Amino acid sequence: MTVPTAFDLLRESSPVVSVGILTADLLSLGPELTLLERNGVKVVHVDVMDGCFCPMMTVGPPLIKALKTPLLKDVHLMIDEPLNKVADYVAAGADIITIHPEGCAHAHRVLQQMRGMKNANNPERGLVRGVGLNPGTPLEALEPLLDELELILILAVNPGWGGQKFISSTRGRVEKAKRMIAVSGHEILLGVDGGITRDNIAEVAALGVDLIVTGSAVFDGKAAEANAKFMLEAVKKGARCQVSGASS
Ligand code: DX5
Ligand code: ZN
Repeated sequence: MTVPTAFDLLRESSPVVSVGILTADLLSLGPELTLLERNGVKVVHVDVMDGCFCPMMTVGPPLIKALKTPLLKDVHLMIDEPLNKVADYVAAGADIITIHPEGCAHAHRVLQQMRGMKNANNPERGLVRGVGLNPGTPLEALEPLLDELELILILAVNPGWGGQKFISSTRGRVEKAKRMIAVSGHEILLGVDGGITRDNIAEVAALGVDLIVTGSAVFDGKAAEANAKFMLEAVKKGARCQVSGASS
């Protein structure tokens, strides 16, 4: 039986919600993720910060390996010079790995290197190679990388913390990234990360993106399950607006 690749799973479920765990209680994360999965969440977003690229330090490969979940593991590397570090995240079970060219002398080489790596969960699942862009980085930085990536992740906040405000220029950047993808002729997924709450998630889905990261609006310390349900429903509604908007 053919196993769908991680890329295909994301494309078929687009727009998909990737739930960020930055504000979650790591000690009760296993059962929390099981509840989210039962409610239809398909992807978990792990923010890796090294205290250099980002002021804060978070988690590394051991935590990713410890996450026993069927959810796709979306690993966002906000770290300097990932060249010799990516292999550890792949070995730990990442399905999606997003790097940042701003912290990287050889972004193209890192992406090439990832092309030859096998998904540790299931080699047939493949890896989704992502490139994230900070709000202050021109989108043109993506152009030389477009034939070596499967996901573009537009950050709607500056990397560092959960719970920041969505930067409004992100909307224009998403539109521009969509045009760039269309012109490239490649099949590339588009995601947005940061500042996505109950109030704006439907609007973000209506922009026509494939992956929507939302962290503190789900893991608010009170009602992760109810929050996730709300987000999944809102994304469906937003995506319907996008479809009907596109055809009108
Ligand atoms: C920003 C991170 C985001 C962020 C998402 O540094 O990459 O993933 O934690 O969290 P919220 O949804 O709280 O902005
Ligand atoms: Zn992130």
